[in-house]
Amino acid sequence: MRSNQVRMNNGITIPVIGMGTYSLENDRRTTENAVHMALKMGYRHFDTAKIYGSEPALGNALKDAIFDGVVQREDIFVTSKLWGSDHHDPVSALKRSLQNLGMDYVDMYLVHWPVRLKPWVCYPVPKEDDFDQLEMEKTWFGMEKCLELGLCRSIGVSNFSSTKIESLLDFASVPPALNQVEMHPMWRQRKLREFSGDHKIHVSAYSPLGGPGNLWGTTAVVDNPIIESIALKHGATPAQVALSWGLSKGASVIVKSFNEDRMKENMEALDLKLDDYDLLEIEKMEEDKIMKGEFLVNSTTSPYKSLQHLWDDEI
Ligand SMILES: NC(=O)c1ccc[n+]([C@@H]2O[C@H](COP(=O)([O-])OP(=O)(O)OC[C@H]3O[C@@H](n4cnc5c(N)ncnc54)[C@H](OP(=O)(O)O)[C@@H]3O)[C@@H](O)[C@H]2O)c1
Repeated sequence: MRSNQVRMNNGITIPVIGMGTYSLENDRRTTENAVHMALKMGYRHFDTAKIYGSEPALGNALKDAIFDGVVQREDIFVTSKLWGSDHHDPVSALKRSLQNLGMDYVDMYLVHWPVRLKPWVCYPVPKEDDFDQLEMEKTWFGMEKCLELGLCRSIGVSNFSSTKIESLLDFASVPPALNQVEMHPMWRQRKLREFSGDHKIHVSAYSPLGGPGNLWGTTAVVDNPIIESIALKHGATPAQVALSWGLSKGASVIVKSFNEDRMKENMEALDLKLDDYDLLEIEKMEEDKIMKGEFLVNSTTSPYKSLQHLWDDEI
């Protein structure tokens, strides 16, 4: 079994399998139950955000588990995120998140997207008129303040291109410890991973299965015949192959399931090691797609696709 923790540039370790908590259809009770199940299965890393609405359920479940002695606060890793409408005041935004979670600190606080939204925009898919001028230097200063005040143990970013991180590094006193981005066998982030390796910024993969069953996701990854044949060869499942691929690239993977069997299956991806042949087969997948002129998953399914031009300098 591979190591289940990785050390970031600030010396803090992060569990490589994280549980996602963003769900449109699941209610608070379901989320709480799933967190309790996850803790029993060994999940120690939980991903939330103000905009997911899952902070209260996650916090409540963790609070109960800590009270019952199932786990100690120091043994879990909790991530939350600064929504675009709160860029003017990260400290107050994080204090509100901590109130939702019922916690004194989070382990990681991320700038959710490299976009600034008007203060009233509290829905996940902004409209064209909702955007404000991004002043990343001010936002990052606020993030550093959160760290200084002990409201979080680490700060990082999400959905940042390498160009965006490069300009952030020009003025950051504290570099981001992590960048959370969409990444799976059909959206591999090769350039970003290379850049992040050079700058010692950990990459965390969200939608590591491609988000099958989600409005914004696709089954193209778990139904891919190459992924299926690698799974068959190892007596594993396609989801485990996709997760193991992410782990093999040094990323942590943030996978969402509230189903007991699938949560267990996902955790067991830690036991699956892909060989060089498997990795090469997956490498070829993308080349085949490009040769056929098909679009990659990220650009066809993201609800942000129509707005991408507003921030993405690397399409
Ligand atoms: N930073 C960002 O901007 C950002 C964006 C998107 C997501 N995220 C984070 O990443 C997490 C995961 O992303 P995601 O939900 O988009 O994608 P995902 O984890 O790739 O996919 C989740 C979907 O796959 C299903 N699933 C889970 N395990 C499975 C398995 N073993 N076999 C088949 N289906 C399986 C889940 O359904 P069941 O629950 O029914 O199992 C759910 O519908 C989110 O919850 C969130 O915390 C961050």
